[in-house]
Amino acid sequence: MKTKLVIFGITGDLAQRKLLPALAHIIEEGRFEELNIIGVSRHQVNQGQVLGDYYDKLNHLTSVYQMDLGNPEDYHCLRDYINQQEDEQTLFYLSVPPDSTSQIVENLGLAGLNGPSDKLLLEKPFGRDLASAHQMIDNTAAFFNEEQVYRIDHYLAKEMAQNIVTFRASNAIFAHLWSNQYIERIEVLALEAIGVEGRAAFYEQTGALRDIAQGHLLQLLALTLLPIPDDLHWDNLPALRLKALRALEIADPSRSVRAQYEGYRDEVGNHESMVETFVSMELKSNDPRWERVPMALTTGKALDRKKTEVRVHFRRMNEAQSNYLVFHIQPNEGIAIDLLTKKPGYDQEVEHQKLSYMYSSDTRLPDAYEQVLDDAINSRKSLFATSEEVIRAWEILAPIQDAWNGDMPLEFYPVGGSARPIIQSGIKA
Ligand code: BG6
Repeated sequence: MKTKLVIFGITGDLAQRKLLPALAHIIEEGRFEELNIIGVSRHQVNQGQVLGDYYDKLNHLTSVYQMDLGNPEDYHCLRDYINQQEDEQTLFYLSVPPDSTSQIVENLGLAGLNGPSDKLLLEKPFGRDLASAHQMIDNTAAFFNEEQVYRIDHYLAKEMAQNIVTFRASNAIFAHLWSNQYIERIEVLALEAIGVEGRAAFYEQTGALRDIAQGHLLQLLALTLLPIPDDLHWDNLPALRLKALRALEIADPSRSVRAQYEGYRDEVGNHESMVETFVSMELKSNDPRWERVPMALTTGKALDRKKTEVRVHFRRMNEAQSNYLVFHIQPNEGIAIDLLTKKPGYDQEVEHQKLSYMYSSDTRLPDAYEQVLDDAINSRKSLFATSEEVIRAWEILAPIQDAWNGDMPLEFYPVGGSARPIIQSGIKA
């Protein structure tokens, strides 16, 4: 179908880092010949500046439209500019600060830019807490029905996140083991070596809990826990994830830790900032299949490495044993099983060995944003978060947010430090 992709925030950080490269790639692959991009900007900018390194690949199908986002009249002009034809769809991609989203959604709706061939792509965070998420979802629902709304959680679109489901559904040996009978605990980690990287204003309003834990970490956990029916259809994935999220118990703040990297306050120019750049928490599920299995979710910036993984630890029959399975979401995408084997030599010693596969260096894995755009254009919704998932995730985290508004301590850690000691400093075994 012919598609017009209208990007609000084309000059922003996300568009430049993720969207334009992803678009350049899918265009290069020839997946969408009939695609036009309209970049919306508040300021007069020239196309060369906007497209930067992607000018050669995207210039022929892009135009830049300048408007005042706060002026409802300008949306009528935008509507004339888009001039949607019967055989066309329009995707409105809101890559804007969270506090601008509702206003743009409302103005699009009031200008009639919410017809059956219009779709809305929203970037997180979807609210700041449970109450604001309800409000944001209700505001959106006043103008767009749920089918038209694509809430992006790009971690769901990562190749290895999708592979958690494929791997679980396709390998009987693990399907048999996938319950509290054989699994002792689960860890989900999203560690970053970078700090806040010039996004001080955004980060000061967000913090690690809202930025990564509320969406990315809970969704990776949901993919690990969700029930896999015999006739798995990807269209049912959001409902299955929701089932897993609903079974998770509301967080216990005493099983969480928040921390900030040293130097953060100087970097953002706020010497009293209590914003966490690191969070770790332990959750439990009341699904009988997962009772007694602690699940630790951890994320942080300015750590010693970039690493996102889901680690599933199997129960031991004696203290000497230990086995785990790791989904390496990034980098070095792949799956590994840690086994104990005999160490070669005369003494009967034991050593850890890995059974693993990693994609070879010449396998190109699509970037998550390529998948997101491709799916939205083709109306595939399985890798987008529904409003119910968003609400449930906030419900789970609400007690932690409440405790942080009170006097729960903030720890500090050195830039380049490792995650383990920070987790241990706050959550005692
Ligand atoms: C984004 C967060 O959602 O994910 C960023 O807003 C974070 O703070 C980024 O750096 C990490 O994404 P990725 O794909 O590089 O792991």
